[in-house]
Amino acid sequence: MAEVVIVPDQATGGDIAARRIASLVHAKPDAVLGLATGSTPLPVWSALVALRLDLARVGGFALDEYIGLPEGHPESYRAVITREVVEPLGLDPALVHVPAEGLSANALAGAGEAYEAAIRAAGGVDLQILGIGRTGHIGFNEPGSSLASLTRVKTLAQWTREDNARFFDGDVARVPQHCVTQGLGTILRAGQLVLLAWGESKAEAVAAAVEGPVTASVPASVIQLHRDVTVIVDEAAGSRLRYADYYRQAWDQRPEWDRR
Ligand code: GLP
Repeated sequence: MAEVVIVPDQATGGDIAARRIASLVHAKPDAVLGLATGSTPLPVWSALVALRLDLARVGGFALDEYIGLPEGHPESYRAVITREVVEPLGLDPALVHVPAEGLSANALAGAGEAYEAAIRAAGGVDLQILGIGRTGHIGFNEPGSSLASLTRVKTLAQWTREDNARFFDGDVARVPQHCVTQGLGTILRAGQLVLLAWGESKAEAVAAAVEGPVTASVPASVIQLHRDVTVIVDEAAGSRLRYADYYRQAWDQRPEWDRR
């Protein structure tokens, strides 16, 4: 079962996730992080900045990237990761990877395999940060994604493009139609998963992911197949969890040796 932590606010949740990263980096200064974009992980990055760790040897692999944005577009996930993660945290840009980077349109078919090979060459992802979409997607694995999928090109669902239009001046027509995303199988290979969610709009997806059946229709439900998952939610995002009382009890009473 996933460890579910219900926090009073995003700052507390970000701090718990940042401490997970800090203890990993203490043990392994060249640890590899899986980096999610979107607004959800922002409190994690700011909490991590406040811990003032030396992260110069830490590597990173972004979960996904749009296809078709001009190089340097401010909403490309490379630009977002550079602005929100690499620069504030002092990561070495040479160690931070984004799928399909620098590939011409006709080379995209090989983008997935190339990314999988790069992850393997770095020794795998040690800790994967995840957000969750309203439909239960993680990365850009839309409903119907194979639970065993690896990095590949996907077509974005219309509802995801509508959700992400806010980053493109509200104009859904400007949101790319395709992306390259780590697969659900890729995500499962990470050493530990930390999934975060804030707000009522995520409550249904969180409950389905944590407590519903494992199904490709709710891609995030694949986390139930991983041995080391922490789900950090605020009260609103956790409001549909049937076993919320038990999660609170388990967190409050977690053994001393398990306080990471
Ligand atoms: C996008 C990203 C996901 C992210 C999701 C939720 O679709 N590809 O990685 O988890 O949006 O975004 P937000 O965190 O902004 O709610």
